[in-house]
Amino acid sequence: MNATPSRRSILKGAALGAAAIAGSFRVFDFEAAAAPAARGIFGYGVASGDPLGTAVVIWTRATPPCEGRQIATPGSGLGRPIFVRWEVARDEAFRHVVKRGGVLTSAASDHTVKVDVTGLQPYTRYYYRFHAEGETSPVGRTQTAPDDGDRLHALRFGLVSCSNYTGGYFAAYRALGQRTDLDFILHLGDYFYEYGNGADRSGPPELIGIRDHNPATETLDLTAYRLRHALHKADPDLALAHRQHPFITIFDDHEVADNAWDSGAVNHSPDTEGSFLARRKVAYQAYLEWMPFRLPEQRVVPHRGTRFFRSFSFGPLGDLSVLESRQNRTAQVDVPPYTTRGGGFIPIGTPEVDAQLNDPARHMIEPEQMTWLKNSGRTKPWHLIGNQVVLSPLMIPGPLLNLPPTMTLINSDQWDGYRAQQADLVNHIAGGANNVVVLTGDIHSSWAVEIPSKAGADYTPVGVEFVCPSVTSDGFYELARARVPAGTPAEVVVAATRQITGTLAGRNPWIKYLDGIGHGYALIDVTPDRVQADFHHTPVPTSAQPDPRVVQSVTTSHAASWQTLAGSRKVSPAGGPVGARSDEPA
Ligand SMILES: [Fe+2]
Repeated sequence: MNATPSRRSILKGAALGAAAIAGSFRVFDFEAAAAPAARGIFGYGVASGDPLGTAVVIWTRATPPCEGRQIATPGSGLGRPIFVRWEVARDEAFRHVVKRGGVLTSAASDHTVKVDVTGLQPYTRYYYRFHAEGETSPVGRTQTAPDDGDRLHALRFGLVSCSNYTGGYFAAYRALGQRTDLDFILHLGDYFYEYGNGADRSGPPELIGIRDHNPATETLDLTAYRLRHALHKADPDLALAHRQHPFITIFDDHEVADNAWDSGAVNHSPDTEGSFLARRKVAYQAYLEWMPFRLPEQRVVPHRGTRFFRSFSFGPLGDLSVLESRQNRTAQVDVPPYTTRGGGFIPIGTPEVDAQLNDPARHMIEPEQMTWLKNSGRTKPWHLIGNQVVLSPLMIPGPLLNLPPTMTLINSDQWDGYRAQQADLVNHIAGGANNVVVLTGDIHSSWAVEIPSKAGADYTPVGVEFVCPSVTSDGFYELARARVPAGTPAEVVVAATRQITGTLAGRNPWIKYLDGIGHGYALIDVTPDRVQADFHHTPVPTSAQPDPRVVQSVTTSHAASWQTLAGSRKVSPAGGPVGARSDEPA
């Protein structure tokens, strides 16, 4: 995508062996990537994830000590195998170790270490660490799921998506890492972006040269995807969040390439970038190496390709189903002249477009996954669904896109672009006896929505959708800012943003709350009586500080609280942010 100097010349000064250079023509700053490795064997920190009642995954990267000038930098393929011991204890001082073991890792897995620790107690806090060759990792804190037979426990977690590294400092991750009241963090995708530092870079220009992507060009091969993961694991704010809480993650499109479907992506050019499926294969490989992700048993549930969707149980309170909606997705609707292959806005209401949208053969998730979803979460009060792109209809008035007021558009990359399957899922939710709360990311803004039976003013609410803001990725405010002359006061851009989001909410009356300014996270708190979403945001931009994302010390603070009461299928404002938990893990 960018003009890049020849890889050979870039690497000349890096003193890397031929093994490291094979098979790629990108610009890699191995020296920068090696910086955390130089901090020691465990310079990329620790993480945990996918908590079950009796098991949790623990993760680290063990960089073998330097031999000569060779640094076993992520993606380099360098470094000898290294034996890593791990231990899990009930206390931070490791006086009461309950599980321990050892594992050999090597360049074949990029020296990542992942252990599924089993035989643990439900709803219990644990501490874990790794040892190798005289060094010890930072201590990670984790806990098992509140899935303790029919005992009822509190459930509270952070909800995040869309952490573009060049988009700003990860204030949301730091804020979550400082909380001590969470069971886990649910990350709905765009954990990173595939872009480089050239024309494809997005984020505040003040951070150019200060917070850059590594590798400097778009991620296309295994080396690049591994390096991009390593860049994120080395971020101190994200590292803190990983150290403090287990994560439940699923990728969206950018962990591979923008607006991906089953055989391509808008940001993939087969002519110059080769096979999309080969690219996706190595992107998935790096994801599984670098994320504390438990690959589910592949044979139990019918699916296509690799099964990533999976579920989590929180005892009698509810279940969480985590969808995967890219691997098998039908290509986005495409009717000339509105070519949106790979996603984009398309006007509805023409026979050609509507015929494609309503075609039951087109799907966001493969029919086998839909069957699994419909069979999930039926027996408990709450069914939470972790989902990548907005499920509820979003009718976009033409004038918002400088088109005539007679036109209404949809975003073909959202569920609106797969209307037959969207209707199928909405009907299923409407027909169920329990309360469905869909948790969504992707759109870089904060929403509380009543999922409507139909996209009309006389809709019936069938369930609820909460959408979290982006950690850093550009949202409505940044879009509005890009439309006005440079130097326009931030207060004017804020007002313009509110006009856009107000117009959208007005045209889509099932959207009860829509903030397009703050970045941050949502906190989700579940009790038998209600599910509450607290939105925590970075400050509103001002002329003195037009982009708070560039300030390293920026914090998030409570912006709004919405809830859905059991049985209501509606959202309503909550009195304020959640208080203390009703109980704590052992
Ligand atoms: Fe995103």
